[in-house]
Amino acid sequence: MAKDWTPTSWRNKPIEQVPDYPDAAALADTEARLSTFPPLVFAGEARKLTRALGEVAEGRSFLLQGGDCAESFAEHGADNIRDFFRAFLQMAVVLTFGASQPVVKVGRIAGQFAKPRSSPMETVNGVSLPSYRGDIVNGTGFDEASRIPNPERQIEAYRQSAATLNLLRAFAQGGYANLDNVHQWMLGFVSGSPAAERYGALADRISETMNFMRAIGITADTHPALRETDFFTSHEALLLGYEQALTRVDSTSGDWYATSGHMIWIGDRTRQEANAHVEFCRGIKNPIGLKCGPSMDADGLLRLIDVLNPENKAGRLTLIGRFGHDKVEQHLPRLIRAVEKEGRKVVWSCDPMHGNTITLNHYKTRPFDRILSEVQSFFDIHRAEGSHAGGIHIEMTGKDVTECTGGSRPVLAEDLSDRYHTHCDPRLNANQALELAFLVAELLKKEVETQAPKQASGF
Ligand code: PEP
Ligand code: CO
Repeated sequence: MAKDWTPTSWRNKPIEQVPDYPDAAALADTEARLSTFPPLVFAGEARKLTRALGEVAEGRSFLLQGGDCAESFAEHGADNIRDFFRAFLQMAVVLTFGASQPVVKVGRIAGQFAKPRSSPMETVNGVSLPSYRGDIVNGTGFDEASRIPNPERQIEAYRQSAATLNLLRAFAQGGYANLDNVHQWMLGFVSGSPAAERYGALADRISETMNFMRAIGITADTHPALRETDFFTSHEALLLGYEQALTRVDSTSGDWYATSGHMIWIGDRTRQEANAHVEFCRGIKNPIGLKCGPSMDADGLLRLIDVLNPENKAGRLTLIGRFGHDKVEQHLPRLIRAVEKEGRKVVWSCDPMHGNTITLNHYKTRPFDRILSEVQSFFDIHRAEGSHAGGIHIEMTGKDVTECTGGSRPVLAEDLSDRYHTHCDPRLNANQALELAFLVAELLKKEVETQAPKQASGF
C-alpha cells in the first residue's frame, strides 16, 4: 500500500476547487450514507483496464476516451445513453481498423458530474452567486436555490451513475455492441455524409473484411468477441468527499480502489503535487489519468509520475495533453523527451478539446479544424519522437447538437443557438465525432505503415 496513505489523508492537504457547502453536518451525513452504498465497479474490472492500458503504453493498442463534459440529471435517459454508445462504438470500429490494433474503450460517463471552474462566483447584472460546479454539486439556474451547493445531489449522482452503468453493461454484453450492427450504423453515416467519398474507401475495406470473415465462418453467432465488447467508465475525481465514500478495500488483493468508476483522472487545475487531489489518487489502485496543460513543466511532470506511479507500471498512468492547436508543438515534445529519457511507462493521450475553446456569438465553442489540427500535431510529434500516439480524449455526444463549429456538415457560428445543450463545455456531435474517428484512423494507418508490425487482435 502507498506509504502514509489512507482514504482520508487528502483531508490534511491544501485543496483547490472545493464547493462551499453551507451545512457541514448535512455533507458529513451524505458522505456517511454513500459509504454504505454498494460499489459501482469492481476492483477486478479496474485491474483489467490497467492491463489493457498497459498494452497501449507498450504501443500495442489505442485508447478511445470520450463522453460529456458534464453529465446532467435533466438529460438522464435511455436514448441519450444509447445514442452516445452507438456513436462511440462506431468510432471504435473505425479506429480499430485504422490502427490494426485493439481499441480500449473508456467513456466519460456514469460519474462525470463534478466540474472545476475558473472563478468561484458568477456575476450577472450585478448579482453574484456561486458558479455552477456540475449537477453533483449545484444547479445551472441562476438563482440562490440552484446555486447553493446541496449534498443530496451526491446521492442523485450515485443513483444516476448506477443506472447508466447498468444500461451500458447490458449494451456492451447483451448483443447491442454486435459488430454487424456497428458496421451497418457506420455505413449509414458514410452514405449520408457530404464527405462520403473520403470515408468510403476505408468503409468499403471494413465491409470486405467482414464479408471475408463471414465467408470463413467467423460470425457473431460463433464468436463472442464479435457480439460483446469491454467498455469502461471514467470521470474526473474532483469531489473528493464523494470519491472517498466510494473508496473500498478489495478483499482479494487488500488494495484500495475507487469504486465510483474504472478510471479516474486529475484535472489540469488540481494537479499540484503537494495537494489533496494528487494525495487521494496516489493511494488508489485504479488506472489514473493526469491532464497536462501548457503550464506543466518537465520536472514537475516527472515528480508527479514518481508520486502517482512509483512502481513504473505500464497502464497505471495516462497523460492527457490538452495544450491547444497552437501550443502543442511548443509543449508536448519536451514532456515526451523527459518522460521517455527516464524510461517512464505512460500512455500518451491527446485531449484536443480543452485548449481550443473560443467564444463566438456569446457561445463557448471549439472549431473542428483546430481540434483536428491538435490531433494531427500530436501524431506528427510522436512520430518524430519515436513514441506511441496512444489515444484521444474527447468531449462528444451521440446527439445532433450544435456546440462545436465546423465539420463536413458544417455547424456555423449562427447555428450555435439552435441546439446548444451542453451543461458545460461544447461537445462534438455524433457526425463530427465519427468524422474525427475516420481522420484519426488515417493517421493511425500511417503510423502502422511507418513502424515495424505489432501484434494485432480483434475488436
Ligand atoms: C474536462 O475534462 O472537462 C476539464 C475540465 O479538463 P481540464 O482539467 O483539462 O481543464
Ligand atoms: Co470539459
